[in-house]
Amino acid sequence: MEALEALTTRVSAGKLVDPAPDDAVLAQLFAAADRAPDHGRLKPWRFLVIRGEAREALGQLMADALARREPNAPEALLEKEHGKAFRAPMIVVVVARPIESPKVPEIEQVVACGAAATNILVAAYALGFGGVWKTGAPAYDEGVKKGLGLFATDHIVGFLYLGSVPSPLPPVPRSILADYVQEWRP
Ligand SMILES: Cc1cc2nc3c(=O)[nH]c(=O)nc-3n(C[C@H](O)[C@H](O)[C@H](O)COP(=O)(O)O)c2cc1C
Repeated sequence: MEALEALTTRVSAGKLVDPAPDDAVLAQLFAAADRAPDHGRLKPWRFLVIRGEAREALGQLMADALARREPNAPEALLEKEHGKAFRAPMIVVVVARPIESPKVPEIEQVVACGAAATNILVAAYALGFGGVWKTGAPAYDEGVKKGLGLFATDHIVGFLYLGSVPSPLPPVPRSILADYVQEWRP
């Protein structure tokens, strides 16, 4: 798919199934991430690939985190939380690992990681895969971060759920760009 077509038609996938991107596709996705705009080329990102049985441990981390946040959460809710790790055959956790820099504030580094995440999603879409970016409470949970082996100073920018789409994704209606874009004149 042409780059501009991918950029202007990408849509999140509601359902994701096997097969997940293989290692060759993943390499392309991370090559795309690596070309995200990044002030100072600090590469303040880390990507954790979670697939197959490893999703079980992620589901447990998410359920344990919910149980800590909500000690009275019913079992069904904990199971639902656990099941989130199985919404797709693969999850790429996009992590911002800020680097001390006199020139590049942390927010710019987190934004660069957001750009890298977007590149991954658009590249996956262009290669015929589906994806969706999720965060929710687990992204901001210290226990989840610790369980994933991250530093307390890291930020989980997103869980990118990736896989194949079982049926074609519906096109998204075009926005009225004039609602968001205006020529600025002094
Ligand atoms: C930082 C970030 C976090 C998000 N977190 C969630 C989330 O936790 N749950 C969710 O349903 N959508 C989340 N979204 C939005 C979806 O990924 C998606 O973009 C949105 O539903 C619009 O669909 P579209 O991408 O097809 O336009 C998040 C998006 C961003 C950029």
